[in-house]
Amino acid sequence: MKDIKHLLKFIKPYKISLIVTILCMATVTGMNLVAPWMIRTLIQTVSDNIANYQKISTLSILVIVIYIFRAIAQFGTSYVSHYTAWQYLKDLRIHLYNHIQKLSLKYFDDKQTGELMSRIINDTRTFEQMTAHAIPTIIVNVLMVLGVSIILFYMNIPLALLTLIPIPFIVIIVLKFSLISRPKFKVAQEKIAELNSILQENISGIKEIKAFTQEEYESKRVGEKITNVSIYLLKALKVSAVFHPTIQFLSGIGTVIVIFFGGRLALAGKLPLEDLVAFILYLGNFYQPITALGQINEGLQQALASADRVLEVLNTQPDIIDPPNARDIKIEGSIEFQDVSFMYIDSIPVLKNVSFKAEAGKTIALVGPTGVGKTTIARLIPRFYEAGSGKILIDGIDIKDIKLSCLRKHISIVSQDVFLFNGTVLENILYGKPDATFDEVVAAAKTANAHDFIMKLKDGYNTHIGERGVKLSGGQKQRISIARAVLKNAPILILDEATSSVDTQTERLIQDALNKLMKNKTSIVIAHRLSTVENANRIIVLEEGSIIESGSHEELLKAKGLYSSLCAAQIPVSLQL
Ligand SMILES: Nc1ncnc2c1ncn2[C@@H]1O[C@H](COP(=O)(O)OP(=O)(O)OP(=O)(O)O)[C@@H](O)[C@H]1O
Ligand SMILES: [Mg+2]
Repeated sequence: MKDIKHLLKFIKPYKISLIVTILCMATVTGMNLVAPWMIRTLIQTVSDNIANYQKISTLSILVIVIYIFRAIAQFGTSYVSHYTAWQYLKDLRIHLYNHIQKLSLKYFDDKQTGELMSRIINDTRTFEQMTAHAIPTIIVNVLMVLGVSIILFYMNIPLALLTLIPIPFIVIIVLKFSLISRPKFKVAQEKIAELNSILQENISGIKEIKAFTQEEYESKRVGEKITNVSIYLLKALKVSAVFHPTIQFLSGIGTVIVIFFGGRLALAGKLPLEDLVAFILYLGNFYQPITALGQINEGLQQALASADRVLEVLNTQPDIIDPPNARDIKIEGSIEFQDVSFMYIDSIPVLKNVSFKAEAGKTIALVGPTGVGKTTIARLIPRFYEAGSGKILIDGIDIKDIKLSCLRKHISIVSQDVFLFNGTVLENILYGKPDATFDEVVAAAKTANAHDFIMKLKDGYNTHIGERGVKLSGGQKQRISIARAVLKNAPILILDEATSSVDTQTERLIQDALNKLMKNKTSIVIAHRLSTVENANRIIVLEEGSIIESGSHEELLKAKGLYSSLCAAQIPVSLQL
C-alpha cells in the first residue's frame, strides 16, 4: 500500500481538478437522487385527488432544472476527470522514463527493450483508467449508496433493513473476485509486454529475418505471442464474466424482497403507494452503485497489477551513482588500473587483477584473443559497469569520487558498432557538443574525413540518416561517430575496434582521422588488426582476463610471447622471413 502511495503522489499537483471532478460527480449523484423523489411527489400529488395543476407545472420546471444541472455536471465529470488523469499520466511517464534512464547498464543487460516500453506505455495507461474513472466512480457510488440508504430508511425502516440482506453477499463476492482476478490481469499485462518486446526486436531485425528467410518461423513466434495475449486476457475476463451475473442476481433478490414485503406492507396500508414506487425506483440506484463498485474493482485490480510492474522498475535503484561528495574536476587524462577484477555474472570472473597505467596524452593498446575482456576494460573507465575489486584512478583520483557526469564528459568512445540516432547528420554530430556552431561541426567532420561524403549526400548535413543510421555505410557511420568525438574533444579517448569492418581505403581514411583525433589525448586503443597498434606507447596483452605481457611493439616482439605469435599469425606468409 505504501508503494501505491508512491504512485499516487503524482496526483498531488492536480488536486484542484480532482476536487472539481468530485464536486461535479457529487452534483450528478445529487440530481440522480432528486429525480425519483420528484416522481414520488407527482404520484403523491395525483393520488391526493385535488386538481393541483400549479404543483405539476412547478414539478416539471424543477425536473428540467435538475436535468440541466445534471448535464453540466456530467460534462465536468467526464472532461475534468480525463484532464486530471492524462496530466497525471504524463508526469508519471516522464518520471518513469527518467528513472529508467538513470539505471545502470547492468540492469538493461537482462531487460528487453519492448518489455520496458510496455511498462512505460501500457502499464501506466491503466492508471489513467484508475484516476479518470475508478477514483471518481468510487466516490460517487459511495455517496449514492449513502444517499439512497438515508432516503430508504426515511421512507420505511423495516423495508429498508430487508433490502440490506443481499449486501454482505455482494461484498464477499467483490473481495473474492479481487483475489482471483489480480494475478490473472498481471499475467495478461506480462504477455502484452512479451508481445511488445518480440515486435520491437523483429522489426529492428527485419533484415536478418529476410536474409535467413525466417519469415514463417517468426510469423509463428509472433502469432504465438499474440495468441497468448488473448488467452491470458480471456482467462482474466472469464472471472469477470462470472462475477457480473452473480452480482446482478444478488441485486435482483433485493427487488424480489421489495415486491414481496413492500407489496404486503402496501396492501396492509402500512406503506403509501408513492413510497412503494419510490422504493423500487431507488433500489436501482442502490444496488447499481454496489455493482459499479465491483466493476471498478475489476479496473482497479488491473491497475494494481500494472502498478506492481511499474513499481518494480521504480523501486530498482541505479547501482552506479555519485557519492555524496563527488567531485567535479578538470581532467588531464592519466588512467591507472590498480588490481582491478570484475565479473558480469557472479562466479564467472572476466578480469583478474588487472593493473596498468596510461600517462596523460599517451596511447595504450589492448590486444588479445577474442573474449579476454578488452571491451570490458574500456567499459569500466566511464563507469558503465563498476569494478568488483581494485581501483581505477583518473589523474590519481578514484573514479568513484568523480561526478559521473564530469567523468563521462571527459571521455569519448568510438567503437565498431556505431549507434546513430534517427535524425540528420548535423544532429548526430552535434550530439558530441550540442552548443557547437555549424563551422565547428564542419571542422570536426573535416578532421574525421567525413566532410566530403557528407557533402555528396542528398541534403548534405541536413540529410536524414534513418533509424540507427541505416541509410549510411559502415565506414560512413564510423566517420560520423569520429566527428562526434572530435567535436566532444574529451581528453580521454577509447577506440574499440574502430577501424575493423571497412575496406583498406576507408580504413586509411579512418585511421588518419583517428590519428588526428588522438593527438594530445590519452587513448586506449583496442584492435585485432595489430598493424594499427604498433605505434602505441605501450601495448598490453591480455589472456583470460589477465595481463600476461606489456611493452612497446619492439619489446614484445623480442620477448617472443603471445604478442609476437599473434603478430606472426597476422603477417601474410609472403612477408614472413
Ligand atoms: N553484458 C555482459 N554480460 C555478461 N557477460 C558479458 C557481457 N559482456 C561481455 N561479457 C563476457 O565477458 C567476456 C569478455 O568480453 P569482452 O567484450 O570484454 O571481450 P573482448 O576482449 O572485447 O572480445 P572481442 O575481441 O571479441 O571484442 C566474454 O566472455 C563475454 O562473454
Ligand atoms: Mg571487444
